[in-house]
Amino acid sequence: MHVLLVVGTLAALVAAVPSKNPYASALAPPYLNLLAKAKGKLWFGTATDIPGVEQQDQEYMSILNDSKIFGQLTPANAMKFQFTEPEQNNFTYAGGQEVIDLAKQHGNRYVRCHNLVWVTEVSEWVLDRNWTAEALTEVMKNHIYNVVTHFGDSCYSWDVVNEALNDNGTWAPSVWFDTIGPEYFYKAYQFAEEAVKLTGKDIKLYYNDYNIEYPGPKATGVVGLVKELKRRKLKIDGVGLETHYEVGTAPSYEQQIEASKMYTALGVDIARTELDVRFTQLPYNSSGLALQAKEYYDAVKSCVDIRQCIGMTVWDFVDKYSWVPGTFPGKGGADIYGLGNSNYTRKPAYYAVGDALAGHPCSVCGHN
Ligand code: XIL
Repeated sequence: MHVLLVVGTLAALVAAVPSKNPYASALAPPYLNLLAKAKGKLWFGTATDIPGVEQQDQEYMSILNDSKIFGQLTPANAMKFQFTEPEQNNFTYAGGQEVIDLAKQHGNRYVRCHNLVWVTEVSEWVLDRNWTAEALTEVMKNHIYNVVTHFGDSCYSWDVVNEALNDNGTWAPSVWFDTIGPEYFYKAYQFAEEAVKLTGKDIKLYYNDYNIEYPGPKATGVVGLVKELKRRKLKIDGVGLETHYEVGTAPSYEQQIEASKMYTALGVDIARTELDVRFTQLPYNSSGLALQAKEYYDAVKSCVDIRQCIGMTVWDFVDKYSWVPGTFPGKGGADIYGLGNSNYTRKPAYYAVGDALAGHPCSVCGHN
């Protein structure tokens, strides 16, 4: 009777006193960034589409701003061409600065700046005109010089050219390639290097792409690009492996190690820059979640096990704001948070990442 009374009173007390942090379970250990740093990595980070509606979402912001979980931010859109130079030679830096401010104010965190030259999210004024190669090269140079010198070493690194290749390793079409030819690629790195020199700061220059996380014609193509940059004595510090996978078809750990070594053998760093693993059919079930967890585990472990893999970044952390459903209709559930009514319950994938970072066997991968 007494025991029951005490338990009852305690329970009433616990219920009456609001817990200090309403988001405690979304912010509890394991701490992905702390674990990554303990393994010698610079960060475990996330992309974020700020400025945006996320900023009104307190739970989103409290996770984003927790430097124990995320030690690095990538603006998912704010630094892309159409947002930084919406009209010719008229630069807008406020959106990108918001991401930098969040990174700095909450634990002086790293920012990967993304990106300078890409086929997508280019301003209309670039796409609408018939440029000569010379004139478009000047546009590219002006853009790169301005943006790189403006943000300076608030950027740990820049993705200079993004997604230059087709899956078969040939050049992908874009306004840049179609107008200037392959030289656009090397010019972009030349201009970025010149701009970095103007800052006098240490800012790394990366090439970033997807479907290059496993050996194949595209990975071989990237090796060719890096070799040619090096042959021309241009600055190339790293290759970003985007790591957008689909549940059930992600490359194996061994394949990922093999591809990673193709790049590091050239003397460059690598990073996992846009990790997510989307379901091709929804809704998912618990065995799907276990398989997804295993695919996250293998991707993260293949960075942990390669010294020159400097860090891992998820392409946003909660399904609610994932880019996947907007780009791949009918697909989704790609992120490490997203279960439950709150949307912020962690998936097995979160704990799988924690296990891989800690160097433990996967505790949530089922029989996968
Ligand atoms: C995506 C953004 O997340 C979306 O919001 C946007 O609509 C399209 O671009 N590869 C990249 C990223 O390098 O820049 C892309 O980001 C996802 C694929």
